[in-house]
Amino acid sequence: MKELVLSEEQIAQITKKLGDDLTLALKDEKKIPVALVVMRGAMNFAADLIRNIKRNIFIDYIQIASYEGTSTDGVIHLLKDCGKDLEDRTVIIIEDIVDTGYSMEWLVDHIKNTKHAKKVIVTALFDKPLNRQTPVQVDYCGHVLDSNKFLVGYGLDYNGIGRNVPYVFIPTEDEVKAWGKELKEE
Ligand code: IMP
Ligand code: MG
Repeated sequence: MKELVLSEEQIAQITKKLGDDLTLALKDEKKIPVALVVMRGAMNFAADLIRNIKRNIFIDYIQIASYEGTSTDGVIHLLKDCGKDLEDRTVIIIEDIVDTGYSMEWLVDHIKNTKHAKKVIVTALFDKPLNRQTPVQVDYCGHVLDSNKFLVGYGLDYNGIGRNVPYVFIPTEDEVKAWGKELKEE
């Protein structure tokens, strides 16, 4: 049986709550903060979250990759860099999930040390602390997971499949097998 992790209703509650929290956290910022979406996994989460931030923000995105199937080798590849206008601004990194922490560690370093942001705020829909390999602080988290099962849906994918599903679930072995077959026939 497919196991539901977050329903559409739960996602709506979470994105509203995090949007309220961020609106408050950003209220004294003089320069317009930048919401930096980590593509492609965070696109759905970011779209809902930014609509709940009630102040002016800029939006930018960055694309990195480390995963092959359901595992990571920890080496981060920068596929598409963000713009240069992060200098001296507060940047809210919006990520789908912090798992080993390698991606977020790399991102925070890049935004602070290469892009010279004033401050970095880490926001993630999920935190999977059981898999952590390097210490990373998630400032605003939607849901902390107590298992390290692989999740799909609402931006999260299995080799590109499942991002368009509006809720988050743990796929069955049969489902994963069927996807593998479909991908092979591409
Ligand atoms: P980390 O570098 O191991 O923390 O991995 C972060 C990235 O791996 C996330 O941005 C996701 O794109 C991907 N990832 C980690 N866990 C999952 C999962 O359960 N489902 C889908 N993608 C995941
Ligand atoms: Mg990601």
